[in-house]
Amino acid sequence: MDELRLRPVQEKDLEYFAQFAVERDEVGISWQGFRDALAPTRRFHQDGYLGPETSRLIVESGGETAGFVSWFSGSFDDKTKYWEIGAALRPQYRGHGIGWRAQAMLTDYLFEHTPVERIQAATQPENVAEQKSLLKAGFQFEGVIRACEFRAGQYRDAYLYSRLRSDPAVAVDG
Ligand SMILES: CC(C)(COP(=O)(O)OP(=O)(O)OC[C@H]1O[C@@H](n2cnc3c(N)ncnc32)[C@H](O)[C@@H]1OP(=O)(O)O)[C@@H](O)C(=O)NCCC(=O)NCCS
Repeated sequence: MDELRLRPVQEKDLEYFAQFAVERDEVGISWQGFRDALAPTRRFHQDGYLGPETSRLIVESGGETAGFVSWFSGSFDDKTKYWEIGAALRPQYRGHGIGWRAQAMLTDYLFEHTPVERIQAATQPENVAEQKSLLKAGFQFEGVIRACEFRAGQYRDAYLYSRLRSDPAVAVDG
């Protein structure tokens, strides 16, 4: 497969992020309605999308922008921080082995550069591609979070996954 890498957001990516804010096909199952399409430009000029609480990196495949990965911080006890990661690929890049690899690469990156013990990810019960991607990226299924989000007209469950620092890493070049 084409060379895969994660890189910081650049000014040229802002048009894509503006589309992501308003186009259902870009977002996929997680679509939550229209968002402020100018917010990405404001955020980029604030910190380049690399902040202490929320961040994004572009996923590049063969030098082309295939999508992005993101992470935000959370805590269950108000003192121990974890990251929650997410991924969104542009429609034409889905289903080619990029999503699971990008999330494995992001997890390795976060364990290397930040002291968290736990990285988690949540997805929708109908999002089989993301469920499989997380397992392939070394995450374990933890359980169902009931009625945790309002989406597509009703409260819906999510599936929670995690990878701990001590869990085995996975090889992404296989
Ligand atoms: C979810 C997403 C990141 C997965 O990345 P991807 O590159 O499409 O998935 P991969 O090609 O890495 O496939 C990973 C696994 O899922 C399977 N898969 C891929 N697309 C699938 C689909 N539409 N239905 C069922 N399984 C699918 C693959 O076959 C593979 O499993 P296998 O090795 O057992 O065959 C990507 O599809 C995407 O960006 N979707 C839209 C946004 C989204 O839903 N993000 C997650 C929100 S929680």
